[in-house]
Amino acid sequence: MGARGYAFVAGGSRGIGRATVLLLADRGYSVGLSYVKSSDAGMEASRLARERGAGDSIAIRMDSSRWSDVVEAARVIGSRFPYLNILVYSAGVLQVGPVEDLDPEEWDRVISVNLSGAFYTVKAFLPLLKKAPWASIVFISSIAGQTGNVYAGTAYAASKAGLIGLTKRLSVELARYGIRVNAVAPSFVETDMTKRFLEDPGSRRRIMELHPLRMILKPEDVARAILFLAEPASSGITGHILSINAGRYT
Ligand SMILES: NC(=O)c1ccc[n+]([C@@H]2O[C@H](COP(=O)([O-])OP(=O)(O)OC[C@H]3O[C@@H](n4cnc5c(N)ncnc54)[C@H](OP(=O)(O)O)[C@@H]3O)[C@@H](O)[C@H]2O)c1
Repeated sequence: MGARGYAFVAGGSRGIGRATVLLLADRGYSVGLSYVKSSDAGMEASRLARERGAGDSIAIRMDSSRWSDVVEAARVIGSRFPYLNILVYSAGVLQVGPVEDLDPEEWDRVISVNLSGAFYTVKAFLPLLKKAPWASIVFISSIAGQTGNVYAGTAYAASKAGLIGLTKRLSVELARYGIRVNAVAPSFVETDMTKRFLEDPGSRRRIMELHPLRMILKPEDVARAILFLAEPASSGITGHILSINAGRYT
């Protein structure tokens, strides 16, 4: 039984999702997480969560672009936890390059994982959120959904802008259940997703210089903001997009 409550992090095997899982565990939540390919990383994150204080933890394979996978994950979590206080959607894939090189199949894949998957996950897990004494949802949008001046491509930017729309509309709709819905919008975070840009020292320096605070965010920086939006400490905040960008607004 989770002393503090119950949480599920889609895409909790690596990066920002993993840091969020571990922070939730530190806080004493029971945590479920999903992975799609990295079963070892998913199991490891679940094991670490338990070591760090999660009352219970479980890693589930879920391709969030497949409705049937998401329904099954919600069923497994529902058989394990009595309800869900916190739902974080951190699953995502990057797309780069000019629109001329963007195939319709790639567009569909990015929108499916980053945006449709967020909708599927909310829809499937909503009954569990509605059962909880308090509940909230946090999406991971991006600076790419706020400004066009980014390394990511069109499909990625559109998917992340879509998450902002999802946040706004769901925050109004789910308010009747007391469920808050917010998003974070990070700039560059040091994860596998951004490795290709950050490995080369010259490219890393150029990216740093885009940020007035001259820093590259760590997954833990984002996880702390997610936790703030997720927990009752931020009650009264809903439909908000919290930029975490080391001062970079363009
Ligand atoms: N890193 C950044 O600079 C940055 C900035 C702004 C926003 N974001 C957003 O933050 C979120 C997390 O990014 P990250 O940097 O932590 O990325 P990451 O390290 O590449 O991790 C991505 C996560 O998404 C999961 N995933 C990928 N495809 C999936 C699918 N089809 N179904 C379900 N899960 C899937 C991965 O599972 P596996 O481990 O099994 O592959 C992994 O857990 C993403 O939505 C990303 O767009 C990242």
